[in-house]
Amino acid sequence: MKWWQKMIAYELYPKSFNDTTNSGTGDLQGIIDKLDYLKALNIGAIWLTPVCRSPMVDNGYDIADYCDIDPSYGTMNDMKTLMAEAKKRGIRIVIDLVFNHTSEQNPWFLESASSRDNDKSDWYIWRDAREDGTPPTNWRGIFGGSAWTWNDTRQQYYLHTFAKQQPDLNWANPEVRQALYDAANFWIDLGAGGFRIDAITYIKKPDVFKDGTPDAPDGMVGIHDMIANTEGILDYLHEFKRAVRDGHDIFTVGEANGVSAEELPDWVGDNGVFDMLFEFSHINVEFKSVENWMTPDDWTLPDLKRALTQSQKNTKDNGWYPIFFENHDRPRAINHFYKEGANRLLAGKAIGLILYTLRGTPFLYQGEELGMVNVAWDDIADYNDISSIGQYKQAIETGYSHEEAMAAVHRFSRDSARTPMQWDTTVNAGFTTGQPWLPVNDDYETYNVESELKDPDSMLNWFIKLGQIRQEYDILIKGDYQELWPDDEAIYAYTRQYDDHQATILVNFSGETLDYDPSIITEANCIISNVNNSTKGMLQPYEAVFYLD
Ligand code: NOJ
Repeated sequence: MKWWQKMIAYELYPKSFNDTTNSGTGDLQGIIDKLDYLKALNIGAIWLTPVCRSPMVDNGYDIADYCDIDPSYGTMNDMKTLMAEAKKRGIRIVIDLVFNHTSEQNPWFLESASSRDNDKSDWYIWRDAREDGTPPTNWRGIFGGSAWTWNDTRQQYYLHTFAKQQPDLNWANPEVRQALYDAANFWIDLGAGGFRIDAITYIKKPDVFKDGTPDAPDGMVGIHDMIANTEGILDYLHEFKRAVRDGHDIFTVGEANGVSAEELPDWVGDNGVFDMLFEFSHINVEFKSVENWMTPDDWTLPDLKRALTQSQKNTKDNGWYPIFFENHDRPRAINHFYKEGANRLLAGKAIGLILYTLRGTPFLYQGEELGMVNVAWDDIADYNDISSIGQYKQAIETGYSHEEAMAAVHRFSRDSARTPMQWDTTVNAGFTTGQPWLPVNDDYETYNVESELKDPDSMLNWFIKLGQIRQEYDILIKGDYQELWPDDEAIYAYTRQYDDHQATILVNFSGETLDYDPSIITEANCIISNVNNSTKGMLQPYEAVFYLD
């Protein structure tokens, strides 16, 4: 087995992690200072969301220079120190490759936009207006509004899947692809342990650009439906694999919204293009058809279990599964997967147990180990997240009230996962002595690293313990997954089997005490439970327990 199949990864959002310069935003030195903290969590790799030079319109997902560090984070020397210090602790640094688009401030785009006949004139996706001057197609960008923006100099529109400050690169141009591979190899040479590859399903555009059937009163159609996973994309990605991945002891994990289960063998595993693929079926449990914040679907526990079990089955023989319940784009897991009023501590511990006992590599997200939860600020002006602002605007334009739109923002805003890390009880939770770029969650005096380390029952100590258990029991890495009772509305139960042993994981998502048939675990010992006096045959409210025979 490979090192990255056995480890726990930590997704780190540098802007909110630890500020050592009183600037109000985190920095690389701040990460270096906390490496021992991550080591204690048994982390084997840190996925850093982008730290390259950027105007930060989308917090670094708008890159102006792929081979330089944004000054707000420090210098390339800081990065080298981070890699070296992490390595001493057995931790590799994973770089986020944002290859679908750049910043509008990237010199590549500035040159491309400067005329119709410069050397980089077709490095981006330029099209003429329609006869009436409107954009070439009716596609809506993922952050709202048209996916096309007019450029006066070229007298043309350029395409952007995300914000207008994030123009899409033209992957059909071999020079573009080579420049991107060169950037990735720069990071490999520096010592990167792997790559998370952003928004990868959007890189290949259709040969012909056509209007889609409008999906909302604005007359537009979401760009995802028009360009995701377009025929021919795998040719590019095989080329990427040959140019970047092959021959190196690294791993790649693609962010691949829109890849279906049947397509998976083409994407991961022996014939695939990546080692792992983030897919979102369990995360999108409330978006059965379209991912619209204003129209979430009701969901039940069997829906969530079905998605998880399906992903476990799909990756049994194809590649390897990156397990995650949180990331920087999604609500906090306690809010996302539990009803209001659920026991916060037990709920967070239960999600943690699932994260560490499914088959695959767990990706723990910054603050998840403290049991951090969503924020709910009063006004849209309080929010920084470009997507929340876009979604709010679109909701109001569609006729929703301020209250309705804010309720959706409270439920789904990406800012909830981006509030500063809570280190201690001092001002701003010890994240900064300056003005934090985003307010600290009000609950920091209770939920913070320093206080939680002192409390044997805390979420943080639970995650530290889980990290040790995951290292200790091979069955959690190698064991086959089998779900029990898929239709049960309140219990998620599964086994892992390896070498004549069986691990059984039982999680009660409800606030009721529930019975089950104890014969499934007669011979087994309780390895860990989030409640005292765990009893075979019965689950206490919100109990999560792991038995091993
Ligand atoms: C996905 C990233 O996770 C998200 O944060 C970003 O806004 C978009 N891709 C655009 O790069």
